[in-house]
Amino acid sequence: MDINALEANALIQCKNYKEALYSVNKALLLKPLQNDLLFLKANILESLKSYNEALRILISLKQSEKSPTINETYTRIKKLLKENAASKEPYAAWMKSLGSKFNKITLKCFAPDYRGIIATKPISANEVIISIPRNGIITVKMAKETNIGKKIIESNTSLIYPNNSLLSVYVLLEKANPKTKWKHFIESLPKSMSNFPLFFIKKERALLTGSPFLGTFINQQIAKVDQLRDDIKKDYKAICNVAPEFEEIANLEDFMRTRVLVNSRIFGLRIDNEPNDSIVPYADMFNYKYKSKMTHWAFNEESNSFIVKAQEFIQEGSEIFVYYGNKPNHSFFQFYGFVVENNENDEVCIKTSGIPTDRLLEFKESMLVRKYLKFRVSKDTGDIKFSQLMSYLRYLTFEGTLEELLEVH
Ligand SMILES: C[S@@+](CC[C@H](N)C(=O)[O-])C[C@H]1O[C@@H](n2cnc3c(N)ncnc32)[C@H](O)[C@@H]1O
Repeated sequence: MDINALEANALIQCKNYKEALYSVNKALLLKPLQNDLLFLKANILESLKSYNEALRILISLKQSEKSPTINETYTRIKKLLKENAASKEPYAAWMKSLGSKFNKITLKCFAPDYRGIIATKPISANEVIISIPRNGIITVKMAKETNIGKKIIESNTSLIYPNNSLLSVYVLLEKANPKTKWKHFIESLPKSMSNFPLFFIKKERALLTGSPFLGTFINQQIAKVDQLRDDIKKDYKAICNVAPEFEEIANLEDFMRTRVLVNSRIFGLRIDNEPNDSIVPYADMFNYKYKSKMTHWAFNEESNSFIVKAQEFIQEGSEIFVYYGNKPNHSFFQFYGFVVENNENDEVCIKTSGIPTDRLLEFKESMLVRKYLKFRVSKDTGDIKFSQLMSYLRYLTFEGTLEELLEVH
């Protein structure tokens, strides 16, 4: 048996399905059509609750091989997928019981942790797709009013990401509360975080070697992904410091996972004319499509609800997308766990240094905070970072005398 397949089997015994999938994929690279490897992969995918993907493999296996085991696994996974889809219905019913209004959309499960919103009927431009009243929204203001939130605010504890961390505290407190009103929302949160680089296993991270993503920010010595981990850890410690009972509610890993999920589902709302970052259950199921202007979302003071409106005609059966902002790929990757192909807002990292033969190099460098500077710039030449890079390059390549340089400087 292939060494990678052996490794995959051993990892399955240890219930380490994510690494097992990695090993079986390696085995399949050499023998992509080997049925026993494909069957092994389908079983691993079932354990990872990736039922759709598992079914796709089993369907092709059923065509090439008549085996009762394959048939049994196929029937079992089909049943699991059906149960999984049915379990989404109470979520919509609960949202409606809170006063939310929507009747032309449904939640579609593409994979257990990858859902999206689909139009079940045609939707006209300017039509409200969904409205969710204030009592169906989790705001940062509500998080500040919890006992732990109050301790954080009253002690002036400074958090690196105050709103995201406070909302994570709220979600974790509710998760620990057996009588929580937010049960359906909490149960809807993705279980697997494997698309977020913060949770990459070593082998996955190694695949990023050489990519600018593992590079560093200006004035920083560690990779962006590690910086985020450190920052979340600092916020967790700061919260436990002022509210030690939080340690009983969530350990660092729980906090890290919730914090990353909150960040990928947050809406920067203005409520009562004040910024009030929020989590909007159900509306957090809209995915993003590059350049799509399909919808517009905002909190509407008049109706006291969060509203998503169509900006164009939406055909029945189409997926409905919302805008997550113009972001470079390193931000999409870090905070949402995906990247956009041919992203015009993407940035490159440019590291600058002086010209070694420049007579004034020593002087120029002595005037700077550090010898090398890194700039992340996009195609947008009107962006401030672009102007900063240009000013810096002009300074480094200035060819006049010291007196002229001082005059210009
Ligand atoms: C606000 S949630 C959307 C609902 C999510 N699909 C779910 O099932 O929970 C944002 C997350 O959805 C996924 N997502 C959204 N748009 C995507 C896209 N264009 N490509 C890949 N993943 C996307 C990413 O995992 C992202 O972190």
